[in-house]
Amino acid sequence: MHGAEFLKQAQAQVEVSLAQALGQCQASPRLAEAMAYSVLDGGKRIRAALVYAAGHACGAQGAILDQLAAAVEALHAYSLIHDDLPAMDDDELRRGKATNHIAFDEATAILAGDALQSLAFEIIANLPAQQIAPQQQVRMLRVLSQAAGARGMVAGQMLDMEAEQKAVSLAELEQLHGHKTGALINASIQLGALASASVTEAQLQALDTYGKAIGLAFQVQDDILDIESDTQTLGKAQGADLARGKSTYPALLGMAEAKLKAQKLLNEALQELEMFALQGQQLAYLAQLIVTRKS
Ligand code: IPE
Ligand code: IPE
Ligand code: MG
Ligand code: MG
Ligand code: MG
Repeated sequence: MHGAEFLKQAQAQVEVSLAQALGQCQASPRLAEAMAYSVLDGGKRIRAALVYAAGHACGAQGAILDQLAAAVEALHAYSLIHDDLPAMDDDELRRGKATNHIAFDEATAILAGDALQSLAFEIIANLPAQQIAPQQQVRMLRVLSQAAGARGMVAGQMLDMEAEQKAVSLAELEQLHGHKTGALINASIQLGALASASVTEAQLQALDTYGKAIGLAFQVQDDILDIESDTQTLGKAQGADLARGKSTYPALLGMAEAKLKAQKLLNEALQELEMFALQGQQLAYLAQLIVTRKS
């Protein structure tokens, strides 16, 4: 399955998997409601789709990919809830509805984010032994924890905060974007690949290069859309970066250069897929989608 049909299927599958994980996590009613509010029925599910696409490229199939896709989307939902808090980007609209702290309250939003982050690791820790060798499972936990934490996404979010109302160099901006957005995108790809018992280090290496390129391209496009799209299409406030004086690619390079940068990163990513031949088609589709998307 390829293209839009593949993405639709990935979206449907991760939805089921997330609903199951939430159903099993026994949160108190208000916490459960706040977690479900931000993780169910929302978003493009690009990270989930990357899990499936990388898994398929390396020969993995089945329920393990559903679990890994749910884990990365839970972690991503946590990052969005916290990103929108008043202390961070202070946004009131996300995925076309009120942000978590507006719909609930700040304390609940912080806790729902915390709980979704823990849930992501719990899902991986609970993978059935017949689906995964223990050392692969530990490797997956290491991949996700490194990508999420002080050397990954959280580092990027810290850099993002420090770079508000400030001029940064291109190298600094690449670090910032690579961490805040690229790290989890790349981890999604690595996790999908690690679900295959026969994945090779050469495949993981090629996917790492692909993932770094599309991870950065994803945030370049996010910055472009903040200027060129509209609130209705985005489901989040257009112009929010400008309003907060964020360091972005269009702000630093200008719009034309930012678009060229996204295109260059796409080409770099596509080159890495040669070794996967036809098995890499879903990954190629997602790379294109990341730089052509309108929301
Ligand atoms: C938004 O991510 C946050 C960034 C890392 C730029 P997405 O654009 O993937 O958000 P959803 O999941 O589709 O809502
Ligand atoms: C968010 O980046 C990255 C993370 C949530 C880790 P942005 O702040 O640019 O994302 P949006 O534009 O609010 O979705
Ligand atoms: Mg932010
Ligand atoms: Mg934000
Ligand atoms: Mg943004």
